[in-house]
Amino acid sequence: MSERMPIIAANWKMHHDHFVAIQYTQKLSYLLDKKDTDGVEVVVCPPFTDLRSMQTTIDSDRIPVALGAQHCHWEEQGAFTGEVSPAMLAKLTVKYVIAGHSERREIFGETDEMVNLKVKAIWKHAMTPILCVGETLEEREAGETDTKVEGQVRAAFAGVATEQIAKTVIAYEPIWAIGTGRNATPDDAEATIAVVRAAVAAIAGADTSEQVRIQYGGSVKPGNIGALMERPGIDGALVGGASLDPEDFARIIRYRV
Ligand code: 13P
Repeated sequence: MSERMPIIAANWKMHHDHFVAIQYTQKLSYLLDKKDTDGVEVVVCPPFTDLRSMQTTIDSDRIPVALGAQHCHWEEQGAFTGEVSPAMLAKLTVKYVIAGHSERREIFGETDEMVNLKVKAIWKHAMTPILCVGETLEEREAGETDTKVEGQVRAAFAGVATEQIAKTVIAYEPIWAIGTGRNATPDDAEATIAVVRAAVAAIAGADTSEQVRIQYGGSVKPGNIGALMERPGIDGALVGGASLDPEDFARIIRYRV
C-alpha cells in the first residue's frame, strides 16, 4: 500500500463573505499547532469572492492551509456570463477545485460530460480536482450505489492521463448524507470507497488506484471524524456544515488527538 497523505477539506458552499473569511482564516491559524497539520493536508474551499482576501491572509501569515474553489468553467475565457475560468483560479494560487459536487449536478444540471471537461481543464492549469461522486437515497435503496459511483468515476476520467488520475482527490459523498445529519457508517463509507478504488483500478491500474486519495463527505462532524479516519481506505473528509465554524473545523483537523 502506498502512503497516502490524509486530506481534510472544508466546503463552505454559499456561506461567509470575504470579511468573515479573513477572520476565519486567522482564527483557524491560531487554533492549529504545527503538529496538527503535520502529515495532514488542510484545504478550504470558500466562495469565489473570498479567494483573493484569503490568498493574501494565507500568504502573509504563512498559514498551512491550501486554497480550493467550489466550481469552475472548463473554457479559458469567453462569453459565459457568470462563470469563472480555471486560468483565473490558478492565478489566485488555488490548488484544488471541486468538480461534480452533487449540488452542482442536481441544482445546476452539471452532467458527467461537463464534469469530465472540468477535470481536464483543472489539470490543464496545474490544479487538482476534488471529484465528487455519490448516490441518491432512491439509488441506494434500489441497490444501485456501486453502478452509480463506478459510472461517475469512469465518465469523469475519460481521456485523463494516468498520472493525473493518480493525483486526483475523489470525494465519496452519498447524497442522502449531505446536510441531513445522517452520515454513512464507517463500514458503509469504507465499502463504497473500495468500489470507487476498484473502479479507478479498472481504468488506470492497481498502482494508480492505490495512490488516489478518497475522502468521505456527508455530515462529518468533530464527533464522527475519528471513527471514519480509523479506516485505512478512507483518506480524508470533505466537510460542509461543520466546517463553517473554525473551532469545529479545527477539531475535525485534529482527529488524531
Ligand atoms: P455536510 O457536511 O454539510 O453534510 O456537507 C457535505 C458536503 O456536501 C461537502 O461537500
